[in-house]
Amino acid sequence: MLAVVLVGGEGTRLRPLTNHLPKPMLPIVEKPMIARIVDWLATHGVDEVVLALGYKPDAFTDAFPEGTVDGVKISYAIEPSPLDTAGAIRYAADSVGFRSGSLVVVNGDIVTDLNLADLIHFHKESEGLATIALTPVDDPSAYGVVPTDSFGRVQAFIEKPERDKAPTNLVNAGTYILDADVMKLIDSDRRVSIEREIFPLLVERGELFAMASDAYWLDTGTPERFLQAQLDILRGERIYGADIEYAERRGDVFLAPGAELEAETKGHVYMGFGSKASSGAYLKDCVIGSGAKVAPWAKIIRSVIMPGATIADGAVIENSIVGSDAVVEASASVRNTTIVGAEAIVPAKMSLDCARHSL
Ligand code: GDD
Ligand code: MG
Repeated sequence: MLAVVLVGGEGTRLRPLTNHLPKPMLPIVEKPMIARIVDWLATHGVDEVVLALGYKPDAFTDAFPEGTVDGVKISYAIEPSPLDTAGAIRYAADSVGFRSGSLVVVNGDIVTDLNLADLIHFHKESEGLATIALTPVDDPSAYGVVPTDSFGRVQAFIEKPERDKAPTNLVNAGTYILDADVMKLIDSDRRVSIEREIFPLLVERGELFAMASDAYWLDTGTPERFLQAQLDILRGERIYGADIEYAERRGDVFLAPGAELEAETKGHVYMGFGSKASSGAYLKDCVIGSGAKVAPWAKIIRSVIMPGATIADGAVIENSIVGSDAVVEASASVRNTTIVGAEAIVPAKMSLDCARHSL
């Protein structure tokens, strides 16, 4: 089966991390998000993937020059200018000559254990042209809200309503099965949004269905959720394609080959390939990327330190993300969903609170 993965967005909510790498290429516990998505698709029988690219396409083509991700064949459809979600799907489907049957579409920023095979089965049994996977969330206002009748026929598709106007907490999980006929509804020469234009059109025609599931699901598009997805994987949430690679396990602490851990730890900790956390440092619920260094008396709590970053003596990182090759100098503090961009320097003793700090 063919899948189109939408990976052309700018990832604005994860800036400055996405200034250098597009969101789906960011590592989730050391493995690019897109590779985790492809693994999950392959588990459910997808054998051909088209990446719908727009923003920074070279990051993908350079990372997977062989045209495969973990053994699954991938091809690239690079939009000349952003075509929005439906435009991107049509462009990618056309690029591989998709004309009949159905295909899977996935937003490139989700981490999930949804049972795609069930969704495909449901789609075949329904009379619809398209089927959306739904997931329950606490606050539906950040998502596409999808009320259905008891047969799963969609009654309305409401993209990002105000919180008190959402008729249900079941939202679009960014995973669809679309018949080839849906492509005919999408103009090929302009931006078209599947959420704001095509789904509402299919609702009017009574041809849109949806199926809810309470399987693990998270959209990683905000700093808080980007962090959460990684901690959930360390905690062993059941998520397809979310295995972690390690050479040694000490309770809830995972060490990749060459990692040196002298620091005190609490909770779930992952130490990447060749990383080091020195004696006197304290690590709690965190990912230390490959080659990253944590100096004595530094404290890292509920945070992700990306590959090659350095956390100096006495620095504190709490609920935050430090980008690759960044340096947090001695006694600086980085807290409260701060993002430090790749290669940025946080000067000694500087305090960052809910900040975006880049080179
Ligand atoms: N190729 C291409 N071209 N991809 C795009 C474009 C484009 O012009 N615009 C957005 N994308 C990709 C993004 O890279 C991302 O993978 C996906 O489309 C969805 O964009 P997001 O920016 O992550 O959207 P969202 O999270 O606010 O909302 C969407 O996802 C929610 C679930 O995760 C919507 O589909 C919501 O309805 C849904 O609930
Ligand atoms: Mg998203």
